[in-house]
Amino acid sequence: MVTIAPSILAADFADLRGQIAYAEQGGADWLHLDVMDGHFVPNITFGPPVIRSLRRVTSLPFDVHLMIENPDLYLEDFRSAGADSITVHYETCPHLHRTIQKIKSIGARAGVCINPATPETLLSGILGDADMILLMTVNPGFGGQTFIGSSVEKIRRTAAMARSAHPGVYLEVDGGIDETTARSVVDAGANVLVAGKSIFGARDIPSAVRALRAAARGV
Ligand code: DX5
Ligand code: ZN
Repeated sequence: MVTIAPSILAADFADLRGQIAYAEQGGADWLHLDVMDGHFVPNITFGPPVIRSLRRVTSLPFDVHLMIENPDLYLEDFRSAGADSITVHYETCPHLHRTIQKIKSIGARAGVCINPATPETLLSGILGDADMILLMTVNPGFGGQTFIGSSVEKIRRTAAMARSAHPGVYLEVDGGIDETTARSVVDAGANVLVAGKSIFGARDIPSAVRALRAAARGV
């Protein structure tokens, strides 16, 4: 069972309510929310107030991806705004174990993300605690980039390592996921697919969600 998590980064920000409704019509499972601070990544998006407003217009679970420095300062804000899962970057967390415990203690699913150049072996100390591992399959900061091909083997290695430590762990991939890449990442062991451009950049958003799910299933 693959979870499809459309990223609103590629949506029309003047009509988020309408665009999210289309994603729901297509059967999206979660909504992926990319928070960027202009420091950790060279782009700025949105924060808790936008998430709080969106919480009122959809019942989809909110999968919040924090591409920000010092995420510990804002965990409660994002949780109270409506985040169901909160994912932090390994690269921003000197006390990662503490951060993950904090996310869990406020009732959210706790995720850890690594950039393409960060080796998955660095996650070994946190695999027993994290609910989700997020592998960036592009360099974070922007939507619409090309999938990094070497990610497939990295997903395979991470899946083996993560599932032996924690069988129920979610393995999410983010960046350049579309109908041409979905099957290979699922075959390698990913079970949550984030997709921005391939869903919200499509003319028919509900059909794009269904097409991505079909591609992930290999049909
Ligand atoms: C990139 C973000 C992604 C982005 C993916 O930094 O984390 O979630 O929205 O966009 P696509 O699917 O267009 O590559
Ligand atoms: Zn993301």
